[in-house]
Amino acid sequence: VVKPVVVLGIFNADAVYRAERQPKIGETVMGEKFKLEAGGKGSNQAVSAARASGETGPEVHFISRLGADDFAKMARKIWSETGIIADVTEDPETHTGSAFIFIEAATGNNAIIVCPGAAGKMTAADLEARADLIGSASVFVTQLETPVESVRAGLAIARKAGVKTILNPAPARALDDELLALCDYLTPNESEAELLTGIAVTDRAGAEAAADALMARGVGAVVVTLGENGVLYRDQSRTIHVPVARAGAVAETTGAGDSFNGAFAVALAEGQPVEEALRFANAAAGISVTRPGASDSMASRAEIDALLARG
Ligand code: RIB
Ligand code: NA
Repeated sequence: VVKPVVVLGIFNADAVYRAERQPKIGETVMGEKFKLEAGGKGSNQAVSAARASGETGPEVHFISRLGADDFAKMARKIWSETGIIADVTEDPETHTGSAFIFIEAATGNNAIIVCPGAAGKMTAADLEARADLIGSASVFVTQLETPVESVRAGLAIARKAGVKTILNPAPARALDDELLALCDYLTPNESEAELLTGIAVTDRAGAEAAADALMARGVGAVVVTLGENGVLYRDQSRTIHVPVARAGAVAETTGAGDSFNGAFAVALAEGQPVEEALRFANAAAGISVTRPGASDSMASRAEIDALLARG
């Protein structure tokens, strides 16, 4: 039996505004479209994992904090629809996470402001209280939307229990070597890899150099997601490049990285060899960008298998 995937992170109610361009300070612009939908990197990754898991894959558990408000109901709804097991407390003192997302109409690219609310108050003790759950997992996944001390505690508990760890260093911030050494897999995008290393990541050579710098600081393996250019995996013994999986026209890229991370965790939990796991996750991300929304666009197991079968 496949052991669970445990995700630590935040849920956001994403308030998504599509417009031709962003307003400048002091300016008001008219938008084309508004929607309120489920987001937050951690919750998106959990949704991606649960959909990618299908009937046969691992259970998915999500550790977080919500406010006691309507956005919390939105979170619980998508988790129950997707079959995510939530280990989540509600904090009446503050709000559920929320994100302002500007979508540039012409490209589908985004700019985001996150206010984590309750999840921004997560502590190392919250993770220590879930040590048994984390220890029962095959893979532990987290990001940088909860406080870094909660991230560190989760990774350390997982490492001590022999659970594989994935850190998606988003949004990017400087990280110390002690934290990096707790990561079996670090999954930055180009700008995150650059912020973490100071190495310009504009091409494959840059991504390889950044990966080497991160491994020198203790990371086990690095997966740089390169957008249009697919993903570059590097560990001490090999380098694997997987081109982007084209599943159709790009509608919206919000949550593409989350799609990748959730599906990658499932594939690793199932014991797929790393090259297959990369293709599986890459296919999931390729599908997610053809649909609007973050959590709402995550690929199902059947869709991923069908895209992979097409070759
Ligand atoms: O990665 C995309 C996510 O980042 C959005 O859903 C938004 O909530 C922010 O957390
Ligand atoms: Na999408």
